[in-house]
Amino acid sequence: MAAESTIEQGVRSMGHMALHYKTPDEGPVAARLLTMLGYVLTQDLVLPSGAHFYRFVVDASHRSRGDGIIYLSVLPDAQRDLMQAIHDALHVGTGHEHPAVAALRAKIDEDPEFTFHYGTLLESLEDLEQIFLALEDANANDPELKGRLKLVYNRPLPGDAEVDAWLDASPIYRSVNRYAYGKNGVQAFVETDLLSSGMLGETLMLEFDYIFPDRANHLLSVVEWQ
Ligand SMILES: [Fe+2]
Repeated sequence: MAAESTIEQGVRSMGHMALHYKTPDEGPVAARLLTMLGYVLTQDLVLPSGAHFYRFVVDASHRSRGDGIIYLSVLPDAQRDLMQAIHDALHVGTGHEHPAVAALRAKIDEDPEFTFHYGTLLESLEDLEQIFLALEDANANDPELKGRLKLVYNRPLPGDAEVDAWLDASPIYRSVNRYAYGKNGVQAFVETDLLSSGMLGETLMLEFDYIFPDRANHLLSVVEWQ
């Protein structure tokens, strides 16, 4: 039977997401990265273990709300131990690594949306550009973040002359020749090994999007396969 939405209900929204940084000492730098991404820190709770538990919101209007929240805490020991057992069993990073590991990594390198990721919508292209110009700089020069970020950008499928001209003038997008699965918006991705996700727990991918004004058909409303 095909999926169909039939239950009548009240308003709901995306609530929260729980992220994990990998090691207790990297909590502060992981939290700093989230602030560089524009998330707003509302709580920094030091647990009895000494590890930090952080609460962020996607923007200040969510400060006291129950949605738009990102929690950030240290990877629990049991999860770390399982990840380590998986790495050992698959000989990850050794000369006889299981071929499925490199095969998945290659797919994620090809398409940052291939596996788990989280997307944040920005209402300003300039905000997105400023955030990612700062990340480019941090990845080259910041003592704690140097080499810890992988940045990838997608332009919309071409065809709207006004959008194409705006992007040709963008400090981020003018040199980009990768394309999203849709029109009239841009995507910027940051993958970092400070945070854990996925089957090997090695990195987390975060996506940031901007949709051009007054376009109903855009990459987040209609997916196009070309
Ligand atoms: Fe996505």
